[in-house]
Amino acid sequence: MQVEAVAGKAAEQASVSGKGPAHEAEYDLRQIDCDPNFWYPIAWSHKVRAGKVFPARYAGHPIALVRPESGPVYALEDRCAHRQVPLSKGVVEGDCIKCCYHGWAFDRGGKCVTVPYLNKEGVGRPVRSYPCREKGGLIFVFPGDPALAESVPLPEIAQVGNPEFKTRRFFPRLKCHYTFMHENLMDMNHQFLHRRQMGSITARFMGQDKGENFMEARYSFARKGGNQPLAEALIFGKHREIEGKEQPVEEIVSIRTTYPYQTLKIHDKDGDLVMDLWVAYVPLGSDQLGTQTFGLLSVKKPKWAFLLDLAWPALGLFTHRIFEEDREIVELEQKAWRELGGDHTIEVFPVVKALRALLARNGVPNARARPLEKG
Ligand code: FES
Ligand SMILES: [Fe+2]
Repeated sequence: MQVEAVAGKAAEQASVSGKGPAHEAEYDLRQIDCDPNFWYPIAWSHKVRAGKVFPARYAGHPIALVRPESGPVYALEDRCAHRQVPLSKGVVEGDCIKCCYHGWAFDRGGKCVTVPYLNKEGVGRPVRSYPCREKGGLIFVFPGDPALAESVPLPEIAQVGNPEFKTRRFFPRLKCHYTFMHENLMDMNHQFLHRRQMGSITARFMGQDKGENFMEARYSFARKGGNQPLAEALIFGKHREIEGKEQPVEEIVSIRTTYPYQTLKIHDKDGDLVMDLWVAYVPLGSDQLGTQTFGLLSVKKPKWAFLLDLAWPALGLFTHRIFEEDREIVELEQKAWRELGGDHTIEVFPVVKALRALLARNGVPNARARPLEKG
């Protein structure tokens, strides 16, 4: 009893004070929340039009994104301080957002500047404001301690804006904890799942790098059988087949989790970057068992750029199909976690073990997290 009480207290403190080495690998990974002291994308820039307000969400917190006719976009708690009606139902007036119900108006700092029916200063209450930035066609907020926002950089995002690349957006919503997604992308040993899309290829582990807040695994692929799909050929180049022999494929796929983001880069045999994927996994509900993905996939334009334009729909379909296979699997993993009441996975691949430790170390145990039983 004593031990439990102390451990419970530790979890409570961890969730208040943030991360710390004390909780590494001690909690069920699916009860470790994202560290809020990072920039998280919560909407695409083009969805928040000038003079409009847009409803978004981070881990159960409703957030109204407001873009005045002029000036940068800003983020407020999406609950009016008066009766908690969503501010996203309101109207943008000048630099303020006016609640749809009684017309209280809030400025970009969240201060209530007008209560229209009481001609008096200082009667309204403020709402929470979030640090807010735009980059790469995404709107980011900083859900944690606003005092830290300035010192935390926005991430580098794929090749958005680089004319040598063509970039597509994707944004699936998944019924699973964000950690399943990190594991799925990092672990290239699951190509068997994608055999119908990619034929029979196997991943060869080429090495890794690790640090306190990142890890990278590198792979190359060998084709054992089946035909190379057209879309894959466009990214990797045509693989010459030699009858009956396993072909070395000289591209290197590097997958990296730099907490809390993930990237996958492909370099061709000359070391040139040919594909660059950037993904953020943003928790939706307060239990963080649902995830909104924001992804940008950049593909290097070939010499004849129109070929890529022509192949673009096929490429979209190819990546969509692969992603749908992954989606089904990660959601099934989450389902098993719910049914079994916790994590019963057996991990044998050192890369994934290290990734799990990284996610545990950098995240924050939630209020329900209890230390794992040892032994
Ligand atoms: S609920 Fe917003 S002004 Fe009354
Ligand atoms: Fe996959």
